[in-house]
Amino acid sequence: RIAYVNGRYVAHADAFVHIEDRGYQFADGVYEVCEVARGFIVDMPRHLGRLNRSLTELSIDWPVTRGVLPIIMREVVRRNHVTDGLVYLQVTRGVASRDFVFPAGTKPSLVVTARKADPAAAEKRAESGIKVITVLENRWDRVDIKSVGLLPNVLAKQKAKEAGAQEAWFVDADGTVKEGGSSNAWIITRDGVLVTRPAEHGILRGITRTTLFEVAAKLGLKIEERGFSVAEAKAAREVFISSATTIAMPIVAIDGAPVANGHPGSITLSLRHAFFDVAE
Ligand code: PDD
Repeated sequence: RIAYVNGRYVAHADAFVHIEDRGYQFADGVYEVCEVARGFIVDMPRHLGRLNRSLTELSIDWPVTRGVLPIIMREVVRRNHVTDGLVYLQVTRGVASRDFVFPAGTKPSLVVTARKADPAAAEKRAESGIKVITVLENRWDRVDIKSVGLLPNVLAKQKAKEAGAQEAWFVDADGTVKEGGSSNAWIITRDGVLVTRPAEHGILRGITRTTLFEVAAKLGLKIEERGFSVAEAKAAREVFISSATTIAMPIVAIDGAPVANGHPGSITLSLRHAFFDVAE
């Protein structure tokens, strides 16, 4: 495997950043994960747009120009022979001796890696569906920034794993679902309406979420952007999550209670299967 690190393509095993990189010391950095399907990086312009927003919010400079980054990403995908999988990129504020305030004159660090995934295995997962647990929201209020500070997400997803589930939903004290540890949350009502929380506050504006709005429109499905509770999700017709790594993935149990008949919903699966006809 080959990784890109600050201007060089190096063997994955020899790909290092400095111990005083602020990503390592302070989680002072941001990232993107893009799906690679049939050799193409899916929704690249949207991912670069969100990266730009994350960098701007944290006053981190672009490590390379916005035009060059897609070239690097495609090159990492090519060098790793990835036709289906994902590409990961991370930008940190750079290397400086440890000091909380922004150091003067650092150059941002850029790392890009790519990894193969098995589309057949993902499809099998979608056919059986996955389980979620709920955890109390304990993250900061700027989760709209795709920062590498993911410790609450790590702990929540580990808890899910230990409970035999694959995702954890962060839930407010009043029972409103925010989003998953690494995905957005959706329900489909008894009337067949898609419901997902508005992305203005409290969640990451998922790229897959945005593209699914277009997929739903194409399939003639109605979407309501509003909050929903765990109780409403448990009583919904279908429940699913979305992310670059899962696309639309059916949820068949919440905190151990089956959703509907405990099988993946047909609308979710049709959204999933129409996704790549719409994504660019
Ligand atoms: N996570 N919400 C959170 C907290 C996420 O970490 C992610 C993605 C999403 C979905 O965003 P998108 O559709 O752009 O992938 C929502 C990536 C996949 C990750 O951290 O691996």
